[in-house]
Amino acid sequence: MYATTTDLPVRPAPNETTRAAQQDAMLNPRFYTTDFAALDALHITPENRQMWDDILAEFRRDPNKDHFKRNAEFDADFSGMDPELRAQFIEFLVSSVTAEFSGCILYAEIKKRITNPDVRELFGFMSRDEGRHAGFINHTLNDFNVAVDLSFLTRAKKYTYFQPKFIYYATYLSEKIGYARYVTIFRNFERNPDKRFHPIFKWFENWCLDEFRHGEAFAVLMRSNPELLAGRNRWWIRFFLLAVFCTMYVRDHARRPFFEAMGIDVDDYDRRVIALTNLISRQVFPDTMDTDSPVFWALMDRMWRTTDAMRRAEAAGGAFAGVKVALLKAANVLTFARLFFHRPVTQALPADVRVQPVW
Ligand SMILES: [Fe+2]
Ligand SMILES: [Fe+2]
Repeated sequence: MYATTTDLPVRPAPNETTRAAQQDAMLNPRFYTTDFAALDALHITPENRQMWDDILAEFRRDPNKDHFKRNAEFDADFSGMDPELRAQFIEFLVSSVTAEFSGCILYAEIKKRITNPDVRELFGFMSRDEGRHAGFINHTLNDFNVAVDLSFLTRAKKYTYFQPKFIYYATYLSEKIGYARYVTIFRNFERNPDKRFHPIFKWFENWCLDEFRHGEAFAVLMRSNPELLAGRNRWWIRFFLLAVFCTMYVRDHARRPFFEAMGIDVDDYDRRVIALTNLISRQVFPDTMDTDSPVFWALMDRMWRTTDAMRRAEAAGGAFAGVKVALLKAANVLTFARLFFHRPVTQALPADVRVQPVW
C-alpha cells in the first residue's frame, strides 16, 4: 500500500495528468489555507464530550487500517478498455485524487500548526485517512501510466485562503457528499455488477465510512461552537450548501457519458446524492434546502443548461461570444440567487448529533 505517492517513481517534470490537476478552473478542487489560531481556539462542550470521545476512539481503532490494500484483481489487463471510457475514468480519478489529497495536506497543516489536543488529534487521523485514499487512487492512475505527482502538486498548486468557518462548512459538506457519492456508486454496482469495469469501485463501501466519520467529527465541532450556526452564519451555511450542490450538479452533468458507462442515470444519481447529503446535514445546519420541491430541481437544471450554453458559446467563439458568455454568467447568478432565496427547511437541531450511515 502507498501512504502517499511519494512512494511512486519520481518524475522529472510534471506530466499531463499532474498539469490537469494543477489547473485552477472554477469547478476544480482547490488547495486551502486558513487562520490556524481560530482553529486552535475550538473547544468541545461537556454535552458533546461523550460523542467526541466515541468518534476519536473510532479513529484510534482505525477500522480501515487494512482496507486500502490491492488484490490480484488490480493486476488484470485494462488495455482493452474503450479509449473514451479510459479517458473519462482517468479524469474522474484525477479529480478524486486532487480532492482527497487537498484534504490530506490541509488536515496535516492544521495538525502541525495548532496545539489544542482535541483538534490536533482529529486532524492527524483525518490526514492519515485522506493520504491513504489519495495514495490508493494514485496507484490506479499509475497502472495507466498517468499518476499525479502529488509532491509536485503541493509545491506548485495555488493556495486559496479561506476563513476558518468557511473551512468547517465546506469540508463538512465535502465529507458528507463524498460519503453519499461513494456509497451511491457502490450500491449501483451491486445492482449492476456487469457494469463494474474496474475493481477500485469495490473499495468504495468501507471507504465511504471514513468520509462519513470525518463529517461526524466536523458536526460535533460545529455543534460545540454554536456561534458558527447562528446569526449571519446561517446565510453563509445556505450559501455553502447551495455552492456545493450546484458545483456537483453542473460537474456531473457535464460528464453524463461517464455515468452512463457505469449504468448510472446522472439526474437520478445527483438527486439522490444531494437529497441524502442535505438530509444528513440537518444534524448540524439549522436551515437546509427544500430538495422535495420541484422548483429546487428545475433551478438546478437551469444552472446546468446555462453553464453548458456558456461552454458552447466559448467554444464557438466569434464577435459576440464574450457578450453572450457575460449574459449567461449573469443568468447563473440570478438562478443561484433564486435558489438561495427559495424557502429553506428550518428545524431545531436533533438532540443527538450523530447520525447513522444510510444504506
Ligand atoms: Fe477521503
Ligand atoms: Fe474525508
